[in-house]
Amino acid sequence: MTSVDVKDLRYQYHDGLEALRGINLSIEKDERVCIAGPNGAGKSTLLHCLAGLLKGNGQVSVANAELKNLDSSIFGLVFQNPDDQLFCPTLGDDIAFGPRNQKLAKDVVAERVRESLALVGLEGFEYRHPHHLSIGEKKRAAIAAVMACKPKILALDEPWANLDARASRSVTDILKNFDGTVIVISQDLYYAAAVCKRMVVMDGGMVIADGDMKKLLAQEKVLEYFVAVDDDGCPLCHSRTRI
Ligand SMILES: Nc1ncnc2c1ncn2[C@@H]1O[C@H](COP(=O)(O)OP(=O)(O)O)[C@@H](O)[C@H]1O
Ligand SMILES: [Mg+2]
Repeated sequence: MTSVDVKDLRYQYHDGLEALRGINLSIEKDERVCIAGPNGAGKSTLLHCLAGLLKGNGQVSVANAELKNLDSSIFGLVFQNPDDQLFCPTLGDDIAFGPRNQKLAKDVVAERVRESLALVGLEGFEYRHPHHLSIGEKKRAAIAAVMACKPKILALDEPWANLDARASRSVTDILKNFDGTVIVISQDLYYAAAVCKRMVVMDGGMVIADGDMKKLLAQEKVLEYFVAVDDDGCPLCHSRTRI
């Protein structure tokens, strides 16, 4: 069963910039895919099109239906900046926001809040102010807010960015344990490879490589995108992105 099917997707911002220039991408149910590539490649724009937040030209089908509005029980998007996701006075309200919108009963909403906070290791954080959390806690809280809606497809924009090793491992474990399709934009290939088998590399609004992550990273032209390589294609330094 197909989870996401995109055909010749183009997206142009109001100022005329063509951020997506003909994307073709098909993701199967329960597949785990990392979308990587340089800054400005169009990765976030693509995710926003999948979430139905932006409407491009072309065909976007999510869970075998045309996504007209963001349906939180199908597609959950964790924004790159957790401050875009957390806007309530308490974390409990932030986590409850999605389930309440799904018109779930009060006790079910309360259970979802407890469950998803526990899932990300933030038990008892219901009454904390989101803006007083550390960046690692905020990122996990933003994931909890999306998990509370029980989406079939979990999409995350740079979940490991700016996290220390412990917080990164915690996010990695959350994604490994998620039961469903995972689409994750990341340059942190060390962590991404622990979650995803497949990598889609984007550049200039196009998909330039798509396949098994470790095989792709063995290709010099792909590796160059992520680490400095010498004339023989060997990585110059030991970095977190080394696989
Ligand atoms: N709101 C916007 N208005 C105009 N251009 C934008 C906007 N958002 C992103 N862009 C441009 O679209 C291109 C793709 O951006 P983005 O999807 O954010 O790339 P990535 O996530 O791969 O870094 C970039 O050139 C960026 O400057
Ligand atoms: Mg981005």
